[in-house]
Amino acid sequence: MAADIDPIKLMKQEVGRQAAARVRSNTVIGLGTGSTTAYAIQFIGERLAAGEVTNVKGVPTSFQASVLAKRYGIPLTTLDEVDTIDLAIDGADEVDPQMNLTKGGGAAHTREKIVDGLAREFIVVVDSSKLVAQLGTTFALPVEVLPLAVAPVSKALEALGGKSDLRMGVKKDGPVITDQGNMVLDVTFGAIANPAELEKTINNIPGVLENGLFVGLATEVLVGEVKDGQVKVRSL
Ligand code: A5P
Repeated sequence: MAADIDPIKLMKQEVGRQAAARVRSNTVIGLGTGSTTAYAIQFIGERLAAGEVTNVKGVPTSFQASVLAKRYGIPLTTLDEVDTIDLAIDGADEVDPQMNLTKGGGAAHTREKIVDGLAREFIVVVDSSKLVAQLGTTFALPVEVLPLAVAPVSKALEALGGKSDLRMGVKKDGPVITDQGNMVLDVTFGAIANPAELEKTINNIPGVLENGLFVGLATEVLVGEVKDGQVKVRSL
């Protein structure tokens, strides 16, 4: 590997390529959000263009995913039009040894959980920096909140031991607004002892739309890593 090439980018590209290689003809694919899934979307489009697979439709998890799918020639469909999703491919911000995830670094976790949760097979694509012993140790938990409920939800999260920060825009003054028109609180809990319980407890707070804990949804995790100067992909 040449010294000037970003190893994280290479890991993301290679897991994206290998996830795209799992796509079969005549299937509906959940298209995740983020920089790693972006490579998978590109490679699915290239396989379609090359005629390696045919009749593949994508269900996007965000505005970003639908823009990329259009750019790379993947026909799109919606949850109103399909009964099932055969395979979802999506990134993650943290992955624990039980393949539970935190997601939402791109504020897309609500639609991602709907689409990924409906898929028969859900492949997570990450570089090795995302592997953690316990969720919550490297990444604050994203919580999508209705704008009018930001203050009471922040207080309720504080009562659960979390410190909330309203996510702010980049090159835009004021908060990030999600694809659904809501806001995102990034909540620092530290190590999360029981992700399944916390996921339910947070979603029970009035005004919360969805949080970024994905428990028991992933069926496989593809991890890109650099070993002896070579990019390799292994399956968890
Ligand atoms: C989008 O909201 C997120 O859930 C992403 O899937 C997650 O942040 C991973 O993104 P990267 O592949 O860019 O790290």
